[in-house]
Amino acid sequence: MANQEDLFKKIISHSKEYGYIFPSSEIYDGLSAVYDYGPYGVELKNNIKQYWWKAMTQMHDNIVGIDAAIFMHPKTWKASGHVDAFNDPMIDNKDSKKRYRADVLIEGYMDKLEDKANKEIEKAAKRFENFDAEMYRSTNPRVLEYDNRRKEIAQRLATAMTNADLADMKAIIEELEIACPESGSRNWTEVRQFNLMFSTQIGALAAEDSTIYLRPETAQGIFVNFLNVQKTTRQKLPFGIAQIGKAFRNEIVARQFIFRMREFEQMEMQFFIAPGTEMDWYRHWKEKRMKWHLSLGTPESMLRFHDHENLAHYANAAVDIQFNFPFGFKELEGIHSRTDFDLKQHQELSGKKLMYFDPEQNASYIPYVVETSVGCDRMFLSVMSQAYTEESVPDAKGEDATRIVLKIPAPLAPVKCAILPLVKNKEELTTKAREIYHQLKMSFECQYDDKDAIGRRYRRQDAIGTPFCVTVDFETLEDNQVTIRDRDTLLQERVSIDKVAAIISEKTDLKSLLLKL
Ligand code: GAP
Repeated sequence: MANQEDLFKKIISHSKEYGYIFPSSEIYDGLSAVYDYGPYGVELKNNIKQYWWKAMTQMHDNIVGIDAAIFMHPKTWKASGHVDAFNDPMIDNKDSKKRYRADVLIEGYMDKLEDKANKEIEKAAKRFENFDAEMYRSTNPRVLEYDNRRKEIAQRLATAMTNADLADMKAIIEELEIACPESGSRNWTEVRQFNLMFSTQIGALAAEDSTIYLRPETAQGIFVNFLNVQKTTRQKLPFGIAQIGKAFRNEIVARQFIFRMREFEQMEMQFFIAPGTEMDWYRHWKEKRMKWHLSLGTPESMLRFHDHENLAHYANAAVDIQFNFPFGFKELEGIHSRTDFDLKQHQELSGKKLMYFDPEQNASYIPYVVETSVGCDRMFLSVMSQAYTEESVPDAKGEDATRIVLKIPAPLAPVKCAILPLVKNKEELTTKAREIYHQLKMSFECQYDDKDAIGRRYRRQDAIGTPFCVTVDFETLEDNQVTIRDRDTLLQERVSIDKVAAIISEKTDLKSLLLKL
C-alpha cells in the first residue's frame, strides 16, 4: 500500500514536471479539485477521446454523434430527477470542521475490512504450497468473518442510500465508531443531503426563474435531441447517440487528483432500443466496453465488473467497470439500463411527444435506453498509472541508473516519434534530421530535438512517453538509413529513411487498436 501511495505521488509530480497536468490557476495556489491539461496532457486526452469516438461512431453504422450545449433549459434537470435527487449525503466533523460524504466514510471502513481479509490470504499464501486463494477465502473463519461483516454493512448502506435514510447512515457511522481522519474525533453532525449541481443565472436579471445549471452529465443533451437525431439521420431502433463533453459536479469529497473533479469530461453513449430487449443490450454493451478497455493492453487482472448495490433513480440495472488505480479498484465506467425513465419524464414535462414508430411492430412507443458512460479524465489516470515505470539501466559509464519511462500505448502517445541528430554541432546531420522531421510530421505528431547529449535526449523522450526515436548519424549521410529506437524494448533497428513513416504509422495509428475490437 505504501508503495502504491508512493507511486501515486510520483505520477502526480511527473504529470506536472513533464507538462501533462497542472493544478488550475496555480499562481493563486490552485482551485480545489480542478486541473488543467498541459501540452502533452491535451494530446493524450485528445487521443483517448478520438479512440473512444471512432470505436463508437466509425465502427458502428447505427451510432451517430452530437455536441450539445452545456447550458440546458432548467426543466431538463427537473425532468431528469437531478433537482430533487442528485444529492450526496454529507456529514461534518464538529472538531475539524471537515465535511465528508457519509457513504464514502462507511465505504472506507469496508475497504479496511477487505484489506484485512486480503492480508490474511497473502500471509497464508506464503505458508502453503499449491495455495488455493478462492478456497481459503470461502473456508477460513477469520477471513469469512471480515467478508461477512463487510457484506452486512454494504447491504445496510445500500438500503439506507436507496431509502435516503440519513438517520441510519449516521447510526452506521456511530456503530462502526468511524473517526474523522483529520481530528480523530467521533463528534459528528447529522447527515444532510447536498445537491451536487452548480447553478448560475442566465441573462442580466437575477430572477428566480433565470436560474440555470451547469450540466452534471452529458446524457440529457442526448435525450432531449433524441427525435431530432432520429429523424435527421433516419435511424431505426436499435441505434445510439454518442457525445463527449464537459460535466460539472460540486463534489463534497474531491480528492485523488483527476479521479474526482468538479469539472470533468464524459464520453457517453445512449443506445435506444425496444422495450423488453434491454437486458440483452445491457449484457452486449458490458462485454463490448470491457473489450475496448482490454484492447489498450490493460491486463484482465486490473479490470473488473462491480454490480451496483443501490441503483440510481433512473436505472433498473447498473454495473461499473472498475480499474485498479494506485488507490485500489474504483469506478472507471458505468453501464446503466435506464429504462424509458428519461424520455418519459421529458415527454411529460415538455408536453412534446418523444415516441418512436416501430415499423416492424406497427406500434409507437417510448424507447428504452442502455447507457455507457466513461470519464475521460479517469481514463487518462488509468493510462498514466499503467504507463509510469521506473527501470534500472546502465548509464553512459556503465553504472546503474534509473530510467523513468511512460509506457503509454503507442497510438495514444502525445508524440509518436522524435527525430534526433546524433550530435548537434554538425550541420550536415542537423540539416538531414530536420529534413526527415519535416517529412514525418505530415504523418504523425513529431518532435525535433538537438539539445544535450543523445542519452539525455532519449531519457527526455522516455519521460514523455514517445514510443519511437529516429537517430540520424554520420552513416545516414552515406547510406540514407536511420536507427529507430523502441521506447519499451530499447531495441534499435536500422532502416532506410523512406520506410520510416510506414513503420511508425503502422504501430501508432489508432487503426491498430480498432482492429482488436
Ligand atoms: N450519465 C451517467 C452518469 O453520469 P456516473 O456514474 O455518475 O453516471 C459516469 O458518471 C462516469 O463519469 C463515471 O464512471 C466516471 O468515470 C466519470 N465521473 C463521474 N464523476 C466524476 C468526477 N467528479 N470526476 C471525474 N470523473 C467523474
